[in-house]
Amino acid sequence: MTLKEEIQRRRTFAVISHPDAGKTTLTEKLLLFGGAIHVAGAVKSNKIKKTATSDWMEIEKQRGISVATSVMGFEYDRHKINILDTPGHQDFAEDTYRTLTAVDSVIVVVDAAKGVESQTRKLMEVCRMRHTPVMIFVNKLDREGRDPFEILDELEEELKVSVRPLSWPIDIGERFRGVYNLYRNSLDLYKPSKQMVTESLRFDIRSPELENHIGDLLSKKLRDDVELITEIYPAFDRDGYLAGKLAPVFFGSALNNFGVKELLDCFVDIAPSPREVHTEERVVDPYEENFSGFVFKIHANMDPNHRSCIAFVKVCSGKFERNVNYKHVRFNRMMKFSSPTAFMAQRKEIMDEAYAGDIVGLPDNGNFKIGDTLTSGEELHFKGLPSFSPEMFKYIENADPMKSKQLQKGIEQLMDEGVAQLFTNQFNGRKIIGTVGQLQFEVIQYRLLHEYGAQCRWEPINLYKACWIESDDEAQLQDFKKRKYQYMAHDKEGREVFLAESNYILMMAQQDFKNIRFHFNSEF
Ligand code: G4P
Repeated sequence: MTLKEEIQRRRTFAVISHPDAGKTTLTEKLLLFGGAIHVAGAVKSNKIKKTATSDWMEIEKQRGISVATSVMGFEYDRHKINILDTPGHQDFAEDTYRTLTAVDSVIVVVDAAKGVESQTRKLMEVCRMRHTPVMIFVNKLDREGRDPFEILDELEEELKVSVRPLSWPIDIGERFRGVYNLYRNSLDLYKPSKQMVTESLRFDIRSPELENHIGDLLSKKLRDDVELITEIYPAFDRDGYLAGKLAPVFFGSALNNFGVKELLDCFVDIAPSPREVHTEERVVDPYEENFSGFVFKIHANMDPNHRSCIAFVKVCSGKFERNVNYKHVRFNRMMKFSSPTAFMAQRKEIMDEAYAGDIVGLPDNGNFKIGDTLTSGEELHFKGLPSFSPEMFKYIENADPMKSKQLQKGIEQLMDEGVAQLFTNQFNGRKIIGTVGQLQFEVIQYRLLHEYGAQCRWEPINLYKACWIESDDEAQLQDFKKRKYQYMAHDKEGREVFLAESNYILMMAQQDFKNIRFHFNSEF
């Protein structure tokens, strides 16, 4: 196969959802169709058990086990599929945001009864920012849920994207009879099965045979619904989907393996192969001969005896090969890797080559940080790995004056891994750690002690958001910084950040300083 063919057949995506909507179940069924696993229930995925929320060591253990499932590659219908798993636990949302920078498209799972939930909304914001193509799977049709038209309205309104149903449910809950696939024009009758793959019938909805399958009443309703759909929604437009403006919607039940194959078949048809990537220097085309890639995630081994990490590299162009010298751009140094790993379903194995779209795992001892670029030699810096405003903030203080060097090194390395964000207050020089959840504070304290021999103490600080600021009005910017000097900080890259104490204070600042733009992420 040529380089072009290899790259064209790749589909790299993530399944995202609010916890419990069915992400793990759907992922597992996709693997089942891909022949990557043979029985349902085999994947434990990155799902963190709800019972373990207060015990982060337990969570880390599960995360450790799940390194192998961080990326699940398999072959399906002449395509190479890479599913990037995202942690289900809300406190690791920052990990999920970064993973979204490495995918070419996304499948969003929504619970038919609960509709759009908070986490879905947030993740979708990140997708919109990046114009990521999105497909939606409305799950749990085997349970009582909402009217499908109502769900579509909610999806449009809440996720701020146009939608187009490509399948349509026939009743719901105990009376659920199946779906009509509008993409393939087939009738898929529901047979609850946790393990089997259901067959679908090519079917013209006008055929009088429909009555034989689902009865007079439902046949009429289905025909009316489909007519309404064609009236309300424009025909499916693939360009709109690829531009991230239009989301095709499928209905089904992941648990019962229903509607999943239709989703997957349509997905391999319409989802994008690796796309152009922007760097500070130029746009990189995936089909270029030369290799380039960036680190989007670093997974630390929590075992203190083996302090190694795995750096996850998304190949953006060309082909990556084992034992070939590549340039680590930040170090301006050539490096080669003797044991890069590929992720195939649940296995992790040494690989010889990987193509644009693939994810490579590089064993690492502190050489990499999030956002680092590797190339065949060119000086490139990939854009689009934003930091998002944390939700929680604490001062970090040294609790063992003899170990201040260790503490500093530990903080620096943990921040490079992307565990949390560091801000330095410009007024008093104190260091502030910002996280998405409470768990990270415990993780940092534990790891500083066990990996660096340093002790830290947390002190409260009342902050609402970190905002990256910019303005074309230099005088106003200077005035703002002077007035808010106690709340100005630098992030780890030295960018200026305003730390707002409350929503009210932020609103007042926005009102009083109209020429300043306040951003909730570092890439604006
Ligand atoms: P998540 O990764 O998005 O957090 O969700 P997950 O797949 O773990 O699913 C959450 C719960 O919803 C699970 O039940 C799962 O079995 C159930 N579920 C998923 N898809 C469907 C579906 O199509 N229909 C129905 N009725 N249920 C579905 P649980 O009881 O929390 O866990 P488990 O004991 O079944 O593993």
